[in-house]
Amino acid sequence: MCGIVGYVGPRDAATVVYNGLKRLEYRGYDSAGVAVLAQNGHIAIRRDVGKLGNLGSLLAESPVSGEIGIGHTRWATHGEPSQRNAHPHVGMNGRVVVVHNGIVENFLPLREELEAEGVTFASETDTEVIVQLVERYLESGLGFETAVRQTLAQLEGANAVVVMSVDQPDELICARLGNAGGITLGIGHDEMFIASDIPAILEYTRNMIFLENRQMALVTRQSYQITDLAGVPLQPEVHNINWDPVSAVKGEFKHFMQKEIHDQPQALIDTMRGRVNFEKGTIALPEMNLTPELVHSLNKIIIVACGTSYYAGLVGKFMIEALSRIPVEVEYGSEFRYYDPIIDEKTAVLSITQSGETADTLVASEQARAKGATLWSIVNVIGSQSMRISDGYIAMQAGPEIGVASTKAFTTSLADMYMLGCVLGEIRGVIDPVRMRELVNNLAHIPSLAGQLLENEAVYENLASVFHGAQNFLFLGRGINYPVALEGALKLKEISYIHAEGYPAGEMKHGPIALIDETMPIVALATNDRLYDKMVSNIQQAKTRGGIVLAVATEGNKTIANEADYVIEVPASSELLQPILNTIPMQLLSYHVAVWRGCDVDQPRNLAKSVTVE
Ligand code: AGP
Repeated sequence: MCGIVGYVGPRDAATVVYNGLKRLEYRGYDSAGVAVLAQNGHIAIRRDVGKLGNLGSLLAESPVSGEIGIGHTRWATHGEPSQRNAHPHVGMNGRVVVVHNGIVENFLPLREELEAEGVTFASETDTEVIVQLVERYLESGLGFETAVRQTLAQLEGANAVVVMSVDQPDELICARLGNAGGITLGIGHDEMFIASDIPAILEYTRNMIFLENRQMALVTRQSYQITDLAGVPLQPEVHNINWDPVSAVKGEFKHFMQKEIHDQPQALIDTMRGRVNFEKGTIALPEMNLTPELVHSLNKIIIVACGTSYYAGLVGKFMIEALSRIPVEVEYGSEFRYYDPIIDEKTAVLSITQSGETADTLVASEQARAKGATLWSIVNVIGSQSMRISDGYIAMQAGPEIGVASTKAFTTSLADMYMLGCVLGEIRGVIDPVRMRELVNNLAHIPSLAGQLLENEAVYENLASVFHGAQNFLFLGRGINYPVALEGALKLKEISYIHAEGYPAGEMKHGPIALIDETMPIVALATNDRLYDKMVSNIQQAKTRGGIVLAVATEGNKTIANEADYVIEVPASSELLQPILNTIPMQLLSYHVAVWRGCDVDQPRNLAKSVTVE
């Protein structure tokens, strides 16, 4: 997904913008650029294909100075990654420059219309129609603001833009149309910041406004005005972001992913903060706005999510059903939106989303609302679209998750669904105070148990030295650990590019067992629970077919070593919370295999941190 940064104020704009783009690198990109309104009143652009360092070299060789500028990291949709297709894009007359995130779905007819009027295009991008349209309106005598409004009114699709013009040298205009990633306005002292995401500007200000769909902002160094697209003034909330800017950097770790795996004990503590009272043995989720009337009216919950968040939802189904006795369905956002789901006012739809900006999840949520559902979200990014459209939400409070591969968001969302299940069960009279205290006590131990798992990474470096050459992997689990197998497979394949498949262990005999031989390592989740013996027999079946088995087992299990080739021990917890602990070895194994293979762990090929396109 593209990254956007804008600045107006007394600092060197190119430096602020470039540093902001570096904080957005995790979103994935293939080219980058900066535009500054130079002292001579002209627009100066520096842009290049490839890593951000190429742009940095360009800026060092040929600096641009000015106090207002915009920048962009591009994840190509229309037009191959190249210097000419990199943003920012300037109009034919050099009066206007734009950076853009999303897709202008009607760009072809707009381009043809403009070319018929004699406009020459310099790129193959859909973005360029935006800047050429604004210039056309300026040439017709309209002012900058009106020219931008007229342009936005013609765009179809989800788009986020920042526009700068020599006609209005002290002003940036930004706008959000649909779910093409956020536009965040950072409010400083005698300076303003615009960004796609909080980490880009957090070092300068904590006071932020998040544009909603079909809103725009007129921004100068000392003022901002938020309006709808018709120009009606709005008064959005100013959020104070309490994230620690340090947490948006790697520190002593080699990769963001490694740091974020190690963040998990603290993130789990933070997600409970203000919600779990360990002394009283109670849980409160005020942002969920749960009333007894609402909770008693529900006859089902549908969880919608994508990728890792979908697997979190599969674990959450076990938790919420066991704790609240409300039936739970789990659906991929990208599938759900094309179903004709059975939804009414007795349904609650819960989206799980780290970014809060995943297009498939957002569209599914909005469709559910249109059918009368109550909308909930479990979301990490404060002020994101998912958070804003929900009737109730739980903020993961995991801090910024920069690595493309989701780790701490997954485990904190499990803790959040556990808490949600407890609260729903309590309201429905399924959980009494004695049971609640037991549930809270089990939860209280999780952060420290997770910390134990992180003390010895050498085990995983050794396993990576054994397995890094494998071409295929199988992850097996049963019951609440089956989704953990799915998540383990996704982690491995998305950062090491090894084909990996998660499978319900009981299903192996219905076909996939034919795959097993000594070239197919198998990770078996075999911690102590009701299904342990079944897992052991699955391990034995794999071994008799020559499979190499790595078992995740409960520490103190003395017999599993007789069954599996390798054993990773995890501390024991309650069955409902065990997936939080069992996931951590999956994360560390995939991380160290990817490092062995020299992969770009934080920015795997073809992937983006938040998929805001459909
Ligand atoms: C997981 O490691 C991936 N980064 C991806 O599957 C991700 O979980 C998915 O795109 C959903 O993102 P979200 O949680 O921000 O909605």
